[in-house]
Amino acid sequence: MNADPGHDPSTVPSSPGPTNPPAGPAPVIPLGPVLGRLTSVLAPPDLVGWFGRVAPLEVDLGSGDGGFLLRFAPRHPERNFLAVERLLGRIRKLDRKAPRLGLTNLRALRVDAAYLVRHLLPPDSVAAAHIYFPDPWPKKRHRARRLIQPGFAADLRRVLVPGGTVFLRTDDADYFGQMREVFGAATGFEEVPTPADLRAVPTDFEQEFHAQGRPTWHAAYRKTG
Ligand SMILES: C[S@@+](CC[C@H](N)C(=O)[O-])C[C@H]1O[C@@H](n2cnc3c(N)ncnc32)[C@H](O)[C@@H]1O
Repeated sequence: MNADPGHDPSTVPSSPGPTNPPAGPAPVIPLGPVLGRLTSVLAPPDLVGWFGRVAPLEVDLGSGDGGFLLRFAPRHPERNFLAVERLLGRIRKLDRKAPRLGLTNLRALRVDAAYLVRHLLPPDSVAAAHIYFPDPWPKKRHRARRLIQPGFAADLRRVLVPGGTVFLRTDDADYFGQMREVFGAATGFEEVPTPADLRAVPTDFEQEFHAQGRPTWHAAYRKTG
């Protein structure tokens, strides 16, 4: 499960066949209360409206099914958590599960994480960014598709509050080297330890890797000044 190009059948239109009706307008499937809606692809999300309050914001970029936030958000009711995921099928699972748990401090947004960080989040608005097991794109010719690149670190620095932190985890040794290189060289970050109470909360992919006996790595970088 090293590579996860993120194929999700729910986002792929199917062609007409013996069991498929002819192509037509996509059915409108109702979405739950957790999923945030952007009013414009150019305007910041209405976070105060979505959460109904102002509180420190933590984002999970590439949240998958949201297992990490479903476990972590209940431990910190004083914080707002935003799951960011580009695959509809995965974000839908979170949309179903979070209300059942009565979580009011968790919202989700289907959007490209790099786009959100570069274009939509206001400066100094994010207290923590969790980036766990981002797609490793192991083939050399695909490396440019990795989320963590120098430009992304600069974008992240803009949206983090002073003292805000990015938390990283991966099972890919080469990508971990790249993460350390990027944030080690980025202006305005210092490496810090990952708090034990955060480290203790696994993600879904992490649970699978550990069940298979596979090693994972983690690191954290705080915005200075
Ligand atoms: C390997 S999974 C890890 C999921 C989760 N963080 C975990 O540890 O269980 C990576 C997730 O990131 C999502 N993803 C990859 N690139 C993304 C991007 N640019 N924006 C938003 N989501 C992205 C994928 O769709 C996938 O769900």
